Amino acid sequence: MTDSKILYGGDYNPEQWPRHVWEDDYAAFDKASIDTVTLNVFSWATLQPDEDTYDFARLDEIVARAVEGGRGIVLATSTGALPPWLAHRHPEVERTDFQGRRHVYGQRHNACPSSPVYRQLSAELAGRIAERYAGTPGLVAWHVGNEYGGFDGGCWCDLCAASFRDWLRARYGTLERLNEAWNATFWSHTFSDWAQIVPPNMLSEHWRGPDHTAFQGITLDYRRFMSDAMLANYRDEKARIREHDATTPVTTNFMGMFRPIDYHRWAADLDFASWDNYPPGPREHARMALAHDVMRGLKDGAPFWVMEQTPTITASRDVNPVKRPGVLRLWSWQAVAHGADAVLYFQMRQSKGASEKYHGAVLDHAGRTDTRAFREVAALGAELAGLGDAVIGARTPARVALLFDWDSWWAAEMTDGFNRHAKYVDTVLAYYRALWQAGAQVDVVPTTADLTPYDVVLAPMLHVLKGDVADRLAAVTERGGSVLASFWSGRADEDVNAFLMDAPGPLGPLFGVRVEETDSAEPGVTNPVTLADGAEAVVSAAQLVFEVLVPEGAEVVGTYGAEFYAGTPAVTRHRPGGPDGDGGEAWYVGTGLDDAGVAWVVRRVLGRHGLVGPYADAPDVELAVRSKDGVRFAFVLSHATGPVEVAAHASGVDLLTGRAVRQGETLRLEPTDVVLLREDPTGAPA
Ligand code: GAL
Repeated sequence: MTDSKILYGGDYNPEQWPRHVWEDDYAAFDKASIDTVTLNVFSWATLQPDEDTYDFARLDEIVARAVEGGRGIVLATSTGALPPWLAHRHPEVERTDFQGRRHVYGQRHNACPSSPVYRQLSAELAGRIAERYAGTPGLVAWHVGNEYGGFDGGCWCDLCAASFRDWLRARYGTLERLNEAWNATFWSHTFSDWAQIVPPNMLSEHWRGPDHTAFQGITLDYRRFMSDAMLANYRDEKARIREHDATTPVTTNFMGMFRPIDYHRWAADLDFASWDNYPPGPREHARMALAHDVMRGLKDGAPFWVMEQTPTITASRDVNPVKRPGVLRLWSWQAVAHGADAVLYFQMRQSKGASEKYHGAVLDHAGRTDTRAFREVAALGAELAGLGDAVIGARTPARVALLFDWDSWWAAEMTDGFNRHAKYVDTVLAYYRALWQAGAQVDVVPTTADLTPYDVVLAPMLHVLKGDVADRLAAVTERGGSVLASFWSGRADEDVNAFLMDAPGPLGPLFGVRVEETDSAEPGVTNPVTLADGAEAVVSAAQLVFEVLVPEGAEVVGTYGAEFYAGTPAVTRHRPGGPDGDGGEAWYVGTGLDDAGVAWVVRRVLGRHGLVGPYADAPDVELAVRSKDGVRFAFVLSHATGPVEVAAHASGVDLLTGRAVRQGETLRLEPTDVVLLREDPTGAPA
């Protein structure tokens, strides 16, 4: 095991098969250059067979075999699934769902985060594991719990209600302030005692489901509270680990853009970020890139891990297609290109039974190493080993930032009055996709991030404005940068109450525009928006949301072609420093432009700063750059379905083939091809 390479391996559950099979497993791991195993993710019931007994005999054997094999070990705390005795003896450890039903034993990821028994016993188990295995040779990380969030994304029981009230007391101090934040005079909700507050679910403020609430403020606070409650569970365990091991990094596996948990609220408590990459379909390269960048943005650009991905198929979807030849390699290198320093699988060998027995694995039930999947895993393992430490720790040199904000996500999607079909991630992804195809390097950051390193800052659907973000966006243009906001931005304050002013609220002066009306239409209904800038004009089929804009200093770039507001502005550009000033530009897009329209706008914004990349016109060819010690590593990844030819943007060496590349020479990329160009420092960078 070495930490000077990209870690390679994944979840390994040898407790499911006889000991002699372990030997076959390790022989296969050697063949595939697998250096890291994640152990003990779901073993609570055997580690602690009853409340007073702990038994580490089997885990001792499993860990000893990994040590003997010289593997890196990611050791999990096993608290992601409850043992049956615990639920039987303490039924309150089970969640009460959004419908108000107390659950009984079953499944996983479903402990009540506020249950004192769960909190005490999970922390105790983590502490005992840490006490026993701290200092184990090869221990690379502690893996707390698993995929926090789980069933219904939370719990609505009486214990959680009590914790929610405590959380609210700490946040607001007084009921007066709480009533103000929740605009409680609406529908006579003024609370006169903390005890009157109940969790918002289908028995209280909600109808139709989690996004339909009578009081957005209550529901928003409950989501913040629930995210913090699960964070407290993670912290309980981490604190106990730290009693025995002061240095080994501690993390938990996230799920990319997962709505129930505000990962920005968690980021400071992770020693590094990691996530499980299971894209919803086979052509989600931009979405995966965005999720990688969200994860990298959690720790201020530091490298992250892919804690899980499947080598072949998932098991949880209705239809589970296999990854086509070359796709595993392509997606793995894409992760590395975006900042991953570990590429791990779920799972090393297929489960013997239960719901994931047909989930893909490095080794199938027969343990074969002559399958296509194993060959691809092994080839990738050799390639990663061959790369050594070249890109370990390398950062992304981004001059573009995209703001990602869970509060805006939650608030926009629980808002009545607009259009339920317009979704936060879809909107963010539309802008990210345009950046991605243009080859811009992008940091996806929270609204609190320092924006001074960036020339361009995009704020799609920044519905909730918190703190001084409006001022910091304005500062970007004051120093000559460009900002862009989309419809529904600047609508609500941190309490999710409307600003008592024109939309986009405090962003109005920056964008030089006000929103007079917000029209909506069913999916498929379009309004042709003519985008014109000098001689170039395109027509974009806009849909879903149509804000009628009134310029107040901004110039009109896009105009609606239909409806009673035909001829009025849909897209504007403001130069807050005046038309001849050397200040920057603030673009406001008041409608759901189609992909071509978004690309047209985004390329204009990037173009002003020379940030349109060299492969922008080669569809589905991705350029992602990392740099370290002044050396740039350019990953050129072809997600295209046919061969593509591009002119190399720089001279250098392809570290995957050893081939010298000259700037300007034709690179022929077959589908799934990857070039990892260590750029020649004397050559002209892209
Ligand atoms: C992850 C989970 C793993 C396994 C995997 C299957 O979400 O952490 O335990 O269930 O999915 O795809």
